[in-house]
Amino acid sequence: MNILILGSGGREHTFAYKIAQSNRCSKLFVAPGNAGTSSIASNLPLNVTDFQGIKKAVLELDIEMVVVGPEDPLVLGIYDFFKEDEALSNVLVIGPSKRGALLEGSKERAKEFMMQHQIPTAAYQSFTPETLEAGKLFLETLKAPYVLKADGLAAGKGVLIINDIDEAKQELENMLTHSKFGAASNKVVIEEFLDGIELSVFVLTDGKSYKLLPTAKDYKRIGEGDKGLNTGGMGAVSPVPFADATLMQKIEDRIVKPTVEGLNKEGIEYKGFVFIGLIKVGEEPYVIEYNVRMGDPETEVVLPRITSDLVSLFEATAQQKLSDVTLELDSRSAATVMLVSGGYPESYEKAKVISGIELVEESIVFHAGTANDKGTVVSNGGRVLAVTSLDTNFREAIKKSYREIQKISFDKMYYRTDIGFDL
Ligand code: AMP
Ligand code: GLY
Repeated sequence: MNILILGSGGREHTFAYKIAQSNRCSKLFVAPGNAGTSSIASNLPLNVTDFQGIKKAVLELDIEMVVVGPEDPLVLGIYDFFKEDEALSNVLVIGPSKRGALLEGSKERAKEFMMQHQIPTAAYQSFTPETLEAGKLFLETLKAPYVLKADGLAAGKGVLIINDIDEAKQELENMLTHSKFGAASNKVVIEEFLDGIELSVFVLTDGKSYKLLPTAKDYKRIGEGDKGLNTGGMGAVSPVPFADATLMQKIEDRIVKPTVEGLNKEGIEYKGFVFIGLIKVGEEPYVIEYNVRMGDPETEVVLPRITSDLVSLFEATAQQKLSDVTLELDSRSAATVMLVSGGYPESYEKAKVISGIELVEESIVFHAGTANDKGTVVSNGGRVLAVTSLDTNFREAIKKSYREIQKISFDKMYYRTDIGFDL
């Protein structure tokens, strides 16, 4: 079948890499894609939220499956758009319905869902501009650090963790009454701070049954030792070494099963990924957030470890037959290191010529922010390339990526040299 992937990052290049290997895939398209996807698929110059443009392309190119990479089109209801359109309703869409996507689109909704289905998470309350003063009083009942979360999508920047109570009150006011994160912070969730170590689990669900995919841990800060500004993610490893069988059993029983059952009980159509951000406090797992898509750069370490045919898994997902298929995994560990533009996550320059990718032999280079300029690969974003390696353990995999990175260069290239340092 012909397949379209929506998105343009390392996550989407990784999807394209796996899907292109499947004999179930005839023609592969990526919209808008990057220089990496253009070498294995046809890029379409379409924005991921241009539903009419996507519809036209799907009909003209006989596309039978759409795999949605980022959250924006999901939260805007691309799944429902397809199901409600007579000409598109047979197309398989990998992603949740709009109601399902609200688990990422609204922090308050995610908290209510967890309360409803008794899924462990931090205690919280939510506030609006009208209840600002009550919010300040609520902060006084908590201990530092204070966790403030913009309710809506804020491109991963909507969470503030603040040590000082007066600053926390001021930021609450900035969010609620001065639109610090635009409309996303018209409502703010204040929650208890959880002190522990983070990991993520990934679930592929058809809304009734599910497959637990490999775990991963990403490195969000720009600087070594996890210091400095937050980024989309500077590297990742999979599996997470401390996620042993006991912890995974707790996560599955207390979090994954109740999540899928909760979706089912509430009659929410969900045929896609659930990315559960967790924190392990002592020996107990708590949910920090739901995302309704795969992570980036987590995808770059999770998908290369899946040896099952990805298109068959997606077909089973869309047809609610996931319980009939088995998920096969590569037992090796994977690590990825992001090469970014100097200055990122603040301002940076684009259009830098990238050299050496073709010299890489032992790792897989996934393009994150690249473009093709008359046959030359140039940088086109903050996160430029993700260099993924597989090996018997995560330390060897990381070493391999760092060895291969020596062959790649572009002006002002930067990367963290300590991915996995804490493990
Ligand atoms: P989120 O966007 O909800 O994942 O939050 C971004 C980051 O803030 C997380 O990856 C955590 O590092 C941190 N965080 C969020 N909620 C909490 C919490 N309740 N306690 C401690 N850290 C948190
Ligand atoms: N790497 C974190 C995310 O994709 O949200």
